[in-house]
Amino acid sequence: MSTLSTTYPVVRVVDLWKEYRENGQVVTQALRGASLEVAPGEVVALFGKSGSGKTTLLNMLAGLDRPTRGTVEIDGRNLEDLGEAGRTRLRRSRLSFVFQFFNLLPTLTAFENVYLALELAGKLDPRAAQAALEKVGLEGKEGRYPHELSGGEQQRVAIARAIVKEPALILADEPTGNLDTATGDRILELITERCRESSMALLMVTHTPLACKYADRILQMVDGVVTEDEKCD
Ligand SMILES: Nc1ncnc2c1ncn2[C@@H]1O[C@H](COP(=O)(O)OP(=O)(O)OP(=O)(O)O)[C@@H](O)[C@H]1O
Ligand SMILES: [Mg+2]
Repeated sequence: MSTLSTTYPVVRVVDLWKEYRENGQVVTQALRGASLEVAPGEVVALFGKSGSGKTTLLNMLAGLDRPTRGTVEIDGRNLEDLGEAGRTRLRRSRLSFVFQFFNLLPTLTAFENVYLALELAGKLDPRAAQAALEKVGLEGKEGRYPHELSGGEQQRVAIARAIVKEPALILADEPTGNLDTATGDRILELITERCRESSMALLMVTHTPLACKYADRILQMVDGVVTEDEKCD
């Protein structure tokens, strides 16, 4: 049997530009030729000052917004070539997000929030949702609504929702930005451990001084460009 297979980077971004316009005029060049790669299963921390383009970059990777020019490939597939329907399919099956403000649906329980992500990925397996909640330490709290959970617990639900479909890539935008330092550190440990355990790549915007404790690599963004790319020992 042939063992030939091609391993693509899970993310490949080449010379990406994003201009925001108002009334046809360019008001901001949020990305100015950003390039980066993330290998399958790699944990990468993205640093950068406010306004440097980090959220804009994640939105382009997620296919939620389109770049002005440049290339984004996820799993070796060029997002531009996929079309809107193809990007939506890819997003539901291969990508997950974790946000600063958790973004749970307030009228759904913890379990239902997690199960919904599975349903959208076409995987109707309630046991997987239960297992994901157990993996983030929320056994017994499956039936709680978001407002009945602490901030750290809500972020655990968001992590369960992100990992449950075993995506190729998790994008996290300041996932601990709304938590106290100790809770935030536990959340970083949790998300990076779960990613390593299931070989999911993680690209997370963070300001933690402990980034190298959790990440394989650190990227630095300045004015819409990735200026530094450092391996952690
Ligand atoms: N929808 C938009 N329309 C116009 N300008 C925008 C829009 N979104 C972002 N920008 C601008 O693009 C630049 C990059 O913003 P972005 O949100 O990507 O920064 P960031 O690095 O995520 O910052 P922060 O650390 O504060 O979250 C900023 O100058 C911002 O004002
Ligand atoms: Mg941001």
